[in-house]
Amino acid sequence: MRVFVITGAGVSAESGIPTFRGKGGYWRNLDPAKLATREAFARDPKLVWEWYRERRQHIRNARPNAAHEAIARLAQNTDEFLLVTQNVDDLHERAGVSPEKMVQIHGDIFVTRCSRCDFKRHDYEHPPSPRLRRTSEQEHEEEEGDVIPRCAECGALMRPGVVWFGEQLPSSELQRVETYLRRGACHVVIVAGTTATFGYIVDWALRASSGGELIEVNPEETPLSQFATQRAREPAAIAMPQIVDQIISS
Ligand code: APR
Repeated sequence: MRVFVITGAGVSAESGIPTFRGKGGYWRNLDPAKLATREAFARDPKLVWEWYRERRQHIRNARPNAAHEAIARLAQNTDEFLLVTQNVDDLHERAGVSPEKMVQIHGDIFVTRCSRCDFKRHDYEHPPSPRLRRTSEQEHEEEEGDVIPRCAECGALMRPGVVWFGEQLPSSELQRVETYLRRGACHVVIVAGTTATFGYIVDWALRASSGGELIEVNPEETPLSQFATQRAREPAAIAMPQIVDQIISS
């Protein structure tokens, strides 16, 4: 069976991570859509780093929920599987989706990269245990304090390794999605917890399903709803385990 899954912030909502456009998406009365930009970083890098440090901390303290676990089970029980997540958290990975089956199309919040050259570092990659991870991260944050990190290679400001509004998607990751989609239509496509604001999300979902099964998991209507063959108007942590059970047993 060939499966394609797209996720957005709604999938992490029940792990306590606020969505971007929903309630709680604002930080100190600031709109994330205005903070997650190159312009905001150029204007006030300290403020932008404060926001990302808080979000890193929040994510570290969160746990994968039943939706992440169901998606990981699906990944482990299908012959061909690709997850494209717009989420920059690491909850899919911590639930057990292996990196080769997942594309983080909007980047990884735990990557710190240079704003000028190609230098980047993975601050908290694949910790051996959650406890150890927390300790080393805490030390790291303490070490950094509210200092803006500088590139070890060229001295420019370092920035979070995420895709900001108006920036291009990473070409290597785009290529991985294209390669998967070109190999043929999928038996099942699931789109969960995203407003599907971006044209490429709608495009990938439609191309992958190619008139076949397209399941949308979202309590709200989205631009994709009209094309869905099944709509689960429920929180992802409730709907996903049932959907995955059905797919695996079919
Ligand atoms: N289960 C499923 N869906 C949910 C849940 C839930 N428990 N809670 C909320 N949702 C849905 C909302 O109805 C909404 O459609 O999740 C969606 C969250 O939408 P956004 O906050 O817009 O998040 P997302 O679609 O992932 O945003 C896309 O935009 O801000 C940028 O780069 C950022 O990756 C992000 C991208």
